[in-house]
Amino acid sequence: MIRAKKFFIQTFGCQMNVYDGMRIAAMLNARGMIQTPDVTDADIIILNTCAVRAKATEKVYSALGRIRLAKKPDALFGIVGCVARESGADAFRRIPDLNFVLGPQSYHRLPDILENPDAKLLNIDMSGLEKFDALPQMEKSPLLAYIPIQEGCNHCCTYCIVPYTRGREISRDFDDVMRDVRHAADTGALEICFLGQNVNGYKQNGKNALSDLIRETAQIDAIKRIRFTSSYPTEMTDDLIDLFRTEPKLLPFLNMPIQSGSENVLTRMNRPYSLKLYIDIIDKLRAARPDIQISSDFIVGFPDESDDDFNQTMEIARRIKYINSYSFKYSPRPHTAAAVMPNQIPENIKKERLAKLDALLNDIQREFNDTCVGKTLSCMREGADKTGRNTVYRTPYMQQCIVNIAQNSAPDIADIKITAASKASLRGKISD
Ligand code: SAH
Ligand code: F3S
Repeated sequence: MIRAKKFFIQTFGCQMNVYDGMRIAAMLNARGMIQTPDVTDADIIILNTCAVRAKATEKVYSALGRIRLAKKPDALFGIVGCVARESGADAFRRIPDLNFVLGPQSYHRLPDILENPDAKLLNIDMSGLEKFDALPQMEKSPLLAYIPIQEGCNHCCTYCIVPYTRGREISRDFDDVMRDVRHAADTGALEICFLGQNVNGYKQNGKNALSDLIRETAQIDAIKRIRFTSSYPTEMTDDLIDLFRTEPKLLPFLNMPIQSGSENVLTRMNRPYSLKLYIDIIDKLRAARPDIQISSDFIVGFPDESDDDFNQTMEIARRIKYINSYSFKYSPRPHTAAAVMPNQIPENIKKERLAKLDALLNDIQREFNDTCVGKTLSCMREGADKTGRNTVYRTPYMQQCIVNIAQNSAPDIADIKITAASKASLRGKISD
């Protein structure tokens, strides 16, 4: 018997989690449940979690503490995703009345707890691609459809918990992915974003690479924009780079994290590429698509990072002129090699370095945003802004652009003349 009628879900972390959260909501909708934004009104409460940094894990446990007190007494609550995998049964020791703990590859088991609400449900199996087959298709696609093409990661960067929480890298079947793409296109998607921890490493049966998926997707008339994230530098093949020249639907934007500008640090991170190789790839990308913009993730304060190492990170950020980037203080994680490396960097130095890097990244972003003023960019609608009076669009370079037009009369894709820029966003009006 199904007991729960309303569900509350909160998602933390990466795009893959955002996708997982949408699938969980669709799965519960398919069982006749409705989503509520109010924890106190929910019959089942799901935190869809991220374990990449210690802070993210702590956030989850403090949210669980608040939820315990606020929820209806018989409401079920639990965690899915990477913190569930990281904590396992320990989560029940920390929060004894928790009802379920489901890893990132077993959240399709969530309905089991609805069938048997008195049980404690723990499943952190690494069942690979099983969840993709077990989940129902979504009835209607958002304009931007995230399509996961791969699960896990084989790179084993020494700071990263992802290979532990999401397991070894597995690529999904090419035809299954294309079936999802066609279904998304048939049910309203205009943009496809392929997702993977190491998305450009996608390879099925030794052939059928990411570039093949992009070529096939570009042939679908309804799909107007294509992108993919996140890319590993050494897996950026010439074939893929060339698509930025030949395939106009592929957006001129690429997230290709460098993490650090110091080769010594990169070696200790187990990211064995030289700066020369990385810069050569960027040069090739810019030759293929002169307006392409690159974004990166950075980690500051990795064990034994010197001032000189850090300055090299500042230098590479200036040189590549990254936009839309993320920077983090190094956070020691369980099951990772870097957590036990000597010369861990004190918190105050990490903080100082992060502030410097963030200030530089903000300046670069501001400069780039300024260069967009006066241009007309083809943008896709994302939703209403906070006031509800304006519509937020996304430019081809992933900037937000605010247009003074009500959501219900805003076209899905529009040419927008950019009229003003700030550090965080653009303003514009629809071109006649
Ligand atoms: N390839 C993945 C990266 C996953 S983790 C993706 O598709 O997004 C996202 C980012 O978190 C990494 O690129 C890295 O910059 C950062 N990160 C990972 N582990 C970290 C740690 N222990 N401390 C600080 N930042 C970390
Ligand atoms: Fe993590 Fe490195 Fe893979 S950052 S997800 S181990 S590429």
